[in-house]
Amino acid sequence: MNRREFLKVCSTVATASLASPSLFSKLVQAQEGAFKKYKKALLVKEDGSPLKPEDLKVGKEYIFFYPYRSTPCMLIDLGEEVKGTQVKLSDGTTYYWQGGVGPKKSVVAYCSICPHQLSYPTPEFSFINYYPSDTPSKVVGRGNVIQCCAHMSIFDPKKGGTVIDGPAPNPLLTIVLEFSDGKFYAVGTLGKEPFEDFFDAYRRGLRKRYGSSRKAKELVEKSTVVEVEKYAKEIIRC
Ligand code: FES
Repeated sequence: MNRREFLKVCSTVATASLASPSLFSKLVQAQEGAFKKYKKALLVKEDGSPLKPEDLKVGKEYIFFYPYRSTPCMLIDLGEEVKGTQVKLSDGTTYYWQGGVGPKKSVVAYCSICPHQLSYPTPEFSFINYYPSDTPSKVVGRGNVIQCCAHMSIFDPKKGGTVIDGPAPNPLLTIVLEFSDGKFYAVGTLGKEPFEDFFDAYRRGLRKRYGSSRKAKELVEKSTVVEVEKYAKEIIRC
């Protein structure tokens, strides 16, 4: 990204984030190349009304799709304030992850496409899931982790999705959330995007599920949040 493009990103982030000046300043501090702005999408419930903080059960994994209608993400209320931190990618670049949002700054969101070999939740099953403290991962013997059972990559939802263990080369992609007027919005991504590889690897399946590649790549303006068990028939835990 050249200087002109970076300044353009800064200006668009500024426009989108007037209600969250601290988020804006933190994002701009270290985001060159890491933050990508997409259409601002309101998160809604199944009845179409805006998702509110009280609709989220602490420690429950929810699924929604962003920035494309076929790219799954997870939303979790971790129950306590989650502070921002620096996150490092495998190429050595770093960015500032903004931490939790919402009234308690406890809500986080990540892309559910595994950065290792792109395992992702489908209507049939989900290999990559959040393990709350009362359902610990057998691999690391504790909860509060996101684990992909395809090859045992484990990520820390309290540290920007950084890798705790396993073969994943990079942290989970962050979905940047805004919280304003009691509503949640997804506004962009932060980190290394898996989307190009995802669309390439699953072209045929996505075509079948969404009708065409073009439809699978439609950007969303609103995204419905549901419990992951309502989306995937089988939740694979290991
Ligand atoms: S695809 Fe997730 S660990 Fe390999």
